[in-house]
Amino acid sequence: MNSLGLTQTPAWKNLQKRKEEGNNLILKELFKDENRFKEFSIKDNELGLVFDYSKNLIDKEIFSLLIKLAEAAGVNEYAKKMFNGDKINWTEKRAVLHIALRNSDNHPIYADGKDVMPQINAVLDKMKKFSDDLRSGKWIGATGKKITDIVNIGIGGSDLGPKMVCEALKYYADGPNAHFLSNIDGADIYEILKSLNPETTLFIVASKTFTTLETITNALSARKWSVGKMGENSVKNHFVALSTNEKKVKEFGIDEKNMFEFWDFVGGRYSLWSAIGLSIACNVGFNRFRELLDGANYIDKHFLNTPYEKNIPVIMALLGIWYNNFLGAQSHCVLPYSQYLHRFPAYLQQGDMESNGKTVNIDAKRVNYETGPIIWGEPGTNGQHSFYQLIHQGTKCIPSDFIGFVNPPKRIGSHHEKLMANFFAQPEALAFGLSKEKVIENLTNSGMSKDEIEKLAPYKVFEGNKPTNSFLIKDLTPRTLGALIALYEHKVFTQGAIWRINSFDQWGVELGKVLANIILPELSDGKSNAHDCSTKGLIDEFNKSKVK
Ligand code: F6P
Repeated sequence: MNSLGLTQTPAWKNLQKRKEEGNNLILKELFKDENRFKEFSIKDNELGLVFDYSKNLIDKEIFSLLIKLAEAAGVNEYAKKMFNGDKINWTEKRAVLHIALRNSDNHPIYADGKDVMPQINAVLDKMKKFSDDLRSGKWIGATGKKITDIVNIGIGGSDLGPKMVCEALKYYADGPNAHFLSNIDGADIYEILKSLNPETTLFIVASKTFTTLETITNALSARKWSVGKMGENSVKNHFVALSTNEKKVKEFGIDEKNMFEFWDFVGGRYSLWSAIGLSIACNVGFNRFRELLDGANYIDKHFLNTPYEKNIPVIMALLGIWYNNFLGAQSHCVLPYSQYLHRFPAYLQQGDMESNGKTVNIDAKRVNYETGPIIWGEPGTNGQHSFYQLIHQGTKCIPSDFIGFVNPPKRIGSHHEKLMANFFAQPEALAFGLSKEKVIENLTNSGMSKDEIEKLAPYKVFEGNKPTNSFLIKDLTPRTLGALIALYEHKVFTQGAIWRINSFDQWGVELGKVLANIILPELSDGKSNAHDCSTKGLIDEFNKSKVK
């Protein structure tokens, strides 16, 4: 990371200057250049992926200034540090090695002077054996029945990743049904367990720390439910743990044989590639889990070895910085045109916002520029009938990513063409809008009077010039999914490197947890302690009104 204040670097200042000049950023004008798509898109034949970033508010000059920003920040040098096991998570003094979990060619990677690959491979072997046994019926429940349902109990990174992937690969699911229990709200466990049979249910307790209140509370209730039917001895057949904390796992009563280990160089939100992915391997099979890892590894190499000008995650990051830091965008929308990817935006919310929602830089100083954007989104076309109005005609600039597939896993009539017609139409409408002249012409043709047209036309105008990226991917497979996830991971990495923040800690989640622990006893004994008058008033009302 560069030691000059970020906003003082020539790269930043040049971008600022160019923003102030503000000229030529009209997509309609920029697209007079017939070569624009060719110039501002990248095709990867091996993955079957096209990344089209031509509908962004950039020209050649801005693009090259953005590339200079990445150069000045030393993004590639910093990435090499991550891949080499340097402790780039400096507040926790940890290496950041989720990339080692998918190191398909198995070259040595060192953390604290020790090659981490043997331990990673050993856990992968153990996951393969377990998932094969579970799926084939070799692993059976305490009463001799085959396991039909698995329940992953975890939260945050121990839930969002595996849940998103199991949803995305549902078409390939040929193992036990996968359920995901995360919320401490009793409604979650109640609704999941009510349709399950303890004799055919296996719980996967997924927690890096094995101390997370939600997970431990849910795991204890699940244990009570399971043991209540089959006795204490059944735990070994119905509970496994995914964790870095062997001591706590043993205390919970799970045999170390049934523990799948990972390590503190794997951050929670980067952990689906680790033992945390066990529910994926059980649900779709280990080979497909392996393909997922291979897809991510393919992008790791792309990220590390491709010049910035052709480097997809670097370009995604730089465009995000252009909008976030220079054009005043507050959020970034992710719009998968695939129902299978309906959890992808929720997954990215943790991946991006827990990583880059930071205000303090590497010099322990408050930053004087914006950092991580608000990430949001829904699958298309559902979102079109809800919030797209604001993207099209609202006052805010909302850069959006459209993700679509050439082939559906299952073709049903013309559904896919109808879906994809919308995938192509929306970025076109966002970019080029509908002029007042065209609106007037349309209304005139419809037979409306001049007077009425005058009044209505302004409401029907689309200003356009709304930026989008489009990812067009041939097929949704474990491999392309792994690649897509890794693209966003490295985008987040690149932005964190440029903003000089630590993308790998998450101190911001701690304070609320501490306060909740203080308040918990006040809800049982009915007496609130010292709080501000709002918090105290609410606690008192809760205690007064709750059904005893
Ligand atoms: O509270 C945030 C967090 O620490 C996330 O970073 C993490 O993914 C999640 O909680 C779950 O933590 P654990 O896997 O240790 O239960």
